[in-house]
Amino acid sequence: MKIRDSDVFLVTYPKSGTVWSQQILSLIFNEGHRNGTENIDNMTRVPWIEYNIHNMDFSSRPSPRLFSTHLPYYLMPRDLRFRTGKIIYVCRNPKDVMVSFYHFYKLNPRIKHTINWEKFIDLYMSGKVLGGSWFNHVRGWYTHKEDFSILFMTYEEMKKDLRSAVQKICKFVDINLNEEAIDTVVEKATFKNMKQDPLANYKFLSYDLLDQSKGEFLRKGIVGDWKNTMTVAQSENFDKVYKEKIGDLPIKIVWHS
Ligand code: A3P
Repeated sequence: MKIRDSDVFLVTYPKSGTVWSQQILSLIFNEGHRNGTENIDNMTRVPWIEYNIHNMDFSSRPSPRLFSTHLPYYLMPRDLRFRTGKIIYVCRNPKDVMVSFYHFYKLNPRIKHTINWEKFIDLYMSGKVLGGSWFNHVRGWYTHKEDFSILFMTYEEMKKDLRSAVQKICKFVDINLNEEAIDTVVEKATFKNMKQDPLANYKFLSYDLLDQSKGEFLRKGIVGDWKNTMTVAQSENFDKVYKEKIGDLPIKIVWHS
């Protein structure tokens, strides 16, 4: 895939706020979804490179192009290593990711058998879920960040202060929005508004890809939901594994709201 200087890639491990960040990026680049860009869904605005369900010809897309991906750093198009194109990496605390992922599995019609919570924890901790291991994904991207032109963001900082997060992204992608335009981005990217936005809530996906009669993709959108699901023993065990696998990196994870 030939990369252009103006390309922007949104990279996440699944359930880390990808669709939210897609919405933010798309609003920043498309005048708050006005002026003829109102009726396009987020997946078309910021298409996935590895799940190209609309069979798009990426090479004929006009610049600036936006893309989404869950790929690990070593599978990304090579040109990105030469600092052509930009990457925004969004990381979320891995306990909330695990809970969100568990609920997401129930919406996935391709997963035929029921997986209970305990079993899901085992699968997640051993990286046997879609997207592989959270620990490897984050470690890989974090330790190779110097190879790319990259902005690291966290789901939790976006939750804490969405406006500042939007401004940070604008600065990174060299887009100057006035105060009113920033207000629009923030307004259209809140959990409440995205949940009702048919072009942002992934309800446009067909049932064979995502069965939202079993629960909603935009489920809770909060920080620290793991406390409602994990037992103390499960959480302590998680902390132990976290320390072993990634505790040596100076990544600041926000566990609580
Ligand atoms: P929960 O399941 O914890 O609610 P992804 O898009 O990477 O699959 O991540 C999905 C998670 O992001 C879900 O988390 C979803 O609710 C949350 N999310 C989506 N839009 C959001 C928003 N505007 N604000 C906060 N969280 C959002």
